Amino acid sequence: MTRLGILLSGRGSNFLAIADAIDRGQIDNAGISIVISNRAEAPGLAAARARGLATAVIEARGRKRAEQDAEIIACLREHGAELICLAGYMRLLSPEFVVAYPQAILNIHPSLLPAFPGLDAQRQALQYGVGITGCTVHFVDDQLDHGVIVLQRPVPVLDGDDEAALSARILEQEHIAYPEAIARVLSGNYTIADRRYVARASHNASLLEEIK
Ligand code: GAR
Repeated sequence: MTRLGILLSGRGSNFLAIADAIDRGQIDNAGISIVISNRAEAPGLAAARARGLATAVIEARGRKRAEQDAEIIACLREHGAELICLAGYMRLLSPEFVVAYPQAILNIHPSLLPAFPGLDAQRQALQYGVGITGCTVHFVDDQLDHGVIVLQRPVPVLDGDDEAALSARILEQEHIAYPEAIARVLSGNYTIADRRYVARASHNASLLEEIK
């Protein structure tokens, strides 16, 4: 079983979508071994406790990022986490963190990257006037919202949308995208060519090819 470590800062709806997908058997052979928050009052943390999952609060407390991250890495290792999922984790990771988990940290971002990285991506999309935005699940590298893209889902911007309405429709797609991206990555059925995530033909597809 692959153990997932979840990092969050707030509401935790993406974390819950992942946990529900595991419970439904939609993500094969995986379990959440630890949920870590940098904010003690994060509702996502309370939701994790309510589900009986191990949780930890590791705050910045005026420390350097690398010090906080060293504590997070130690906690993830203690719980045997192999794939790290940032689920509304609103702090940048230190280079040391990224190096500790090469191609094993995923993030979800509420825009079609590389458009609108950083904070308030939905507001940025509205202000720019795009017709289509969406969400992106990507591997985390040492630059903000930049690593190899695993999966994107588009969301149209509708006339009369405000930030709340658009964010809610993007969030629905996030809850589909994140479990699907995790399942794809855990299947190991992909390669990365330059920056491109390339799904390998599935075993069944290649069998069908042989039969033809
Ligand atoms: C989500 O919309 C996620 O994409 C976004 O924060 C929200 C967290 O919601 N993340 C970022 O903006 C990261 N740059 P949640 O706590 O309910 O999952």
